[in-house]
Amino acid sequence: MKTILVTGADGMLGTDLTRYLRKCGHKVFASTIRSMDITKPEQVRRTLVKINPDLVIHTAAYTAVDKAESERELCMAVNADGARNVAMLCGEIGAEMIYISTDYVFDGKKKTPYIETDKPRPIGVYGESKWRGEEAVRSLVERHKICRTSWLIGAHGIAGTNFIEKIFRAADEKKHLRVVNDQTGRPTFTFDLAILLEKLAGVSEWGVFHTTNSGQCTWYELAKTALEMSGRGGIPIEPVSSSEYPTPAKRPANSLLDAPRLCRIGVPLLRNWREALQEYLARRNRRKK
Ligand SMILES: NC(=O)c1ccc[n+]([C@@H]2O[C@H](COP(=O)([O-])OP(=O)(O)OC[C@H]3O[C@@H](n4cnc5c(N)ncnc54)[C@H](OP(=O)(O)O)[C@@H]3O)[C@@H](O)[C@H]2O)c1
Repeated sequence: MKTILVTGADGMLGTDLTRYLRKCGHKVFASTIRSMDITKPEQVRRTLVKINPDLVIHTAAYTAVDKAESERELCMAVNADGARNVAMLCGEIGAEMIYISTDYVFDGKKKTPYIETDKPRPIGVYGESKWRGEEAVRSLVERHKICRTSWLIGAHGIAGTNFIEKIFRAADEKKHLRVVNDQTGRPTFTFDLAILLEKLAGVSEWGVFHTTNSGQCTWYELAKTALEMSGRGGIPIEPVSSSEYPTPAKRPANSLLDAPRLCRIGVPLLRNWREALQEYLARRNRRKK
């Protein structure tokens, strides 16, 4: 069992991850922006030196992809400099580090899924900031894992703003939904990702890993499936192109992350996103009762 510090522990992934690691018997310290602001090097130093963890799982981030286009400085301060602050201390105290990264480090122009060795080329401020974070971790922490994931869906933290909840709210408010159908990715459920991260924490392999659920879909297909599975299949939903639904940040058309490395080291891939979505909806129903 390890002593693990989870940053961003009250976020969508951080909440599920902290709970699962505790369930597995690890000694877990859960840090939030209130207990350790990662943009403040002295706070990071004080916390890491005091806890002296075996492993830091760094989930904390600025995650407002569209807002980042107009808040570049803040986004870079948290995702690039903040990650560097954490990495620096991990390097100093000899802790392992798992850095959670994103499909948005890629430009989405590849015709096939991205693998761990493909060269990142971010097309937005958020993706660039996460890529800079990756580079800091790579240069400062010898025993590091960069775990890229995509299209996160979880019940905690900013749950009200996860894609499924946004679609359900829109379905309640509007007669007709329009959802982008030319971006393809792998929805990844935080309760599944927590299990994979715990497994990876026990593996002495370092570098980049792709950590997503399996299968693939567009945002439109994800929305339609979620509505159907929740008994609202009758709600009109129209597939549109990204150009018909402009957003401040450009997003990769191809967000698919393949994980040949996980296969090579014998770590099973996560289940298909449809199965995980079914569980998300079942859990959601139980919470509502
Ligand atoms: N969401 C996705 O679709 C997605 C996809 C791929 C990768 N990722 C990556 O996965 C990780 C988890 O994402 P998530 O969606 O779970 O994020 P989230 O819910 O937004 O959680 C991020 C957490 O980081 C905290 N944070 C922000 N600034 C901080 C600071 N200066 N110091 C300390 N903590 C700070 C936030 O606190 P406040 O809420 O109080 O600001 C929040 O608790 C992130 O690294 C993200 O880049 C996410």
